[in-house]
Amino acid sequence: MAQCFNIIGIAVVLFVINNDFIRPLSAADTKPVNISSLTLNTGKKIPSIGYGTSGVNGLEAALNSALEAGYRYIDTSTYYRNEKVMGNVIKKWITEGKLRREDLFLLTKLPFFGNRPEGVPKYLKQSLENLQTDYVDLYLIHSPAGLKENDGGLDSTTDIVAIWKEMEKQMDAGLTKAIGLSNFNKTQIERILKNSRIKPSSLQVELHAYLQQNELVDFCKENNILVTAYAPLGSRSMTAYNANRGNNVTLPDVLENPIVKRIAAKHSKTAAQVVLRFDIQRGVIPIPRSYNTERIRQNIDIFDFELDDKDIEELKSLDAGIRFFKFSEMAKHPEYPFRGEVQK
Ligand SMILES: NC(=O)c1ccc[n+]([C@@H]2O[C@H](COP(=O)([O-])OP(=O)(O)OC[C@H]3O[C@@H](n4cnc5c(N)ncnc54)[C@H](OP(=O)(O)O)[C@@H]3O)[C@@H](O)[C@H]2O)c1
Repeated sequence: MAQCFNIIGIAVVLFVINNDFIRPLSAADTKPVNISSLTLNTGKKIPSIGYGTSGVNGLEAALNSALEAGYRYIDTSTYYRNEKVMGNVIKKWITEGKLRREDLFLLTKLPFFGNRPEGVPKYLKQSLENLQTDYVDLYLIHSPAGLKENDGGLDSTTDIVAIWKEMEKQMDAGLTKAIGLSNFNKTQIERILKNSRIKPSSLQVELHAYLQQNELVDFCKENNILVTAYAPLGSRSMTAYNANRGNNVTLPDVLENPIVKRIAAKHSKTAAQVVLRFDIQRGVIPIPRSYNTERIRQNIDIFDFELDDKDIEELKSLDAGIRFFKFSEMAKHPEYPFRGEVQK
């Protein structure tokens, strides 16, 4: 019997050290979470799930919970104005010896109001100072459309190719390990691919059961660009955002969908876990955001079950082309990415 436990123990240890992103759920619960990883076109690894962090209220406690739960890929942006808080939390974890910088995958983005070539070194430098790090793992152009720096009005002169050339220089300088895009459409990505020395490693777009982005995901796969899903749980953050502004619109809720709920019950998982698992099985990286410790832990606990072919077919049938993040205030910009889109 003792020998049997030894063998299991050795197997567990090997399993842990062979995987880059296995971490305990918390100090109290040492059950390991097997966070698989994917490989970027740079050859570097990226965890197959990340932690989304728009907003700053409550972030310090939430980020501590996320790191304890095992998230190592952290998504932010200059635009979220939360990099300083994030930098302080990360520094504390590193100083206390609980984390090494190389264990983390830090992503930030060039803000809409910095969307010009000279904005790239300026805002990346600012992000690095805020995050208290010498480099980020991935730097994205947040949007193909730009805003003026002074008054936030539309800057119709945005030149995405010229911006990309500056992004390449930041990678050459070692200030970011990879570069990528967010909210770009297929035509805009093609323009970058044709005019680049360094190809984009990743595309971050809105993606969930009601907006599955099949054509864009296939195009990115063909071009070795990893897709990250923002708003992977659907409309909830948009509903909360609207409600905070006194706009109580009802949006279709992915997590209340009867098919999603039925599949969740079948696997004894939650609706959120099912839609996040759907992304993982598509090779798409979800970056759910929660400021609630229980839901933070729940959202990463998706590596111990498998959706079967029938589940996948049923989830695929939910695609409805419903976009919650329309960036309508940018609709008149020449690079507005969602012009002419029709909901299915
Ligand atoms: N590139 C871009 O333009 C862009 C745009 C939008 C977002 N993003 C990134 O993507 C991240 C995620 O997107 P998002 O925050 O818009 O949407 P999301 O992650 O799909 O949804 C977040 C909302 O869902 C709730 N929630 C989280 N886990 C849940 C669970 N297990 N069960 C039920 N509800 C749950 C959260 O509330 P609680 O906090 O109460 O749990 C929050 O209201 C952002 O934080 C940001 O990092 C990028």
